[in-house]
Amino acid sequence: MVRGAYDEVGLRVRHFRRVSHHETADQPLESSEHRDRLCGPMSAPPELPEIVSRAFDVCRRAGYVAFCRNETGRLLAALAATRGGTMAEFGTGCGVGTAWLRSGVRNGARILTAELDERLAVAAQQIFVEDDKVEVLAADWSVLRDRGPFSLLFLDSGTPSEVGVDMIIDLVEPGGIVVLDDFAPCESWPPITYGRVDTLREEWLTDERFTAVEVMVAPDASALIATRR
Ligand SMILES: C[S@@+](CC[C@H](N)C(=O)[O-])C[C@H]1O[C@@H](n2cnc3c(N)ncnc32)[C@H](O)[C@@H]1O
Repeated sequence: MVRGAYDEVGLRVRHFRRVSHHETADQPLESSEHRDRLCGPMSAPPELPEIVSRAFDVCRRAGYVAFCRNETGRLLAALAATRGGTMAEFGTGCGVGTAWLRSGVRNGARILTAELDERLAVAAQQIFVEDDKVEVLAADWSVLRDRGPFSLLFLDSGTPSEVGVDMIIDLVEPGGIVVLDDFAPCESWPPITYGRVDTLREEWLTDERFTAVEVMVAPDASALIATRR
């Protein structure tokens, strides 16, 4: 899990792996650190969508830090902007990922999100209390099984064994997108995490019912995007 702590302004600190495979031997470590200090690892405007800032305020009050990183959030927003119908998120936390999705939502589309921890779900509900495009359920994500299929599904409940392709495919409409994040970029095949084959990543990247890609959102973090054929 690429989860972080807060920096001095209360936003989550990203933990950069100091040498990425984009760097070459003639780029000393100091230069990559200098570059990160100057502009961060990816180009992005520093301002956050207002709804995302509100979600961070709720996280801060709740002492919650397990939210998605901003790079993933920007990806979610861009993908949400391509979608109609109903999107879903498994594992709301305090609503940061939901807020990023919401920042990209088009007219006519909506988001359902489920959070098992009632305290967190109630906190996230505050963010969207006057928003008819977002429904936060205090429940196990399995309650969303009756509300699909979805045009986009962000699988972020942190339980990999529950989100294999066979468990999820019926919840995704043809052309629908599944997003999983918190992977460590890996150049080998099959992908290895902590010395073991990452079977979840391998399964999503090879299942013929989806066309899938792993995208680096930062030097030390990647996400999977899988589109149902
Ligand atoms: C990584 S955090 C979610 C972060 C959030 N998606 C974001 O981007 O800010 C995972 C959350 O999933 C919740 N969770 C775990 N199992 C769940 C389940 N079966 N159904 C719904 N939520 C679950 C946890 O309580 C936790 O808050």
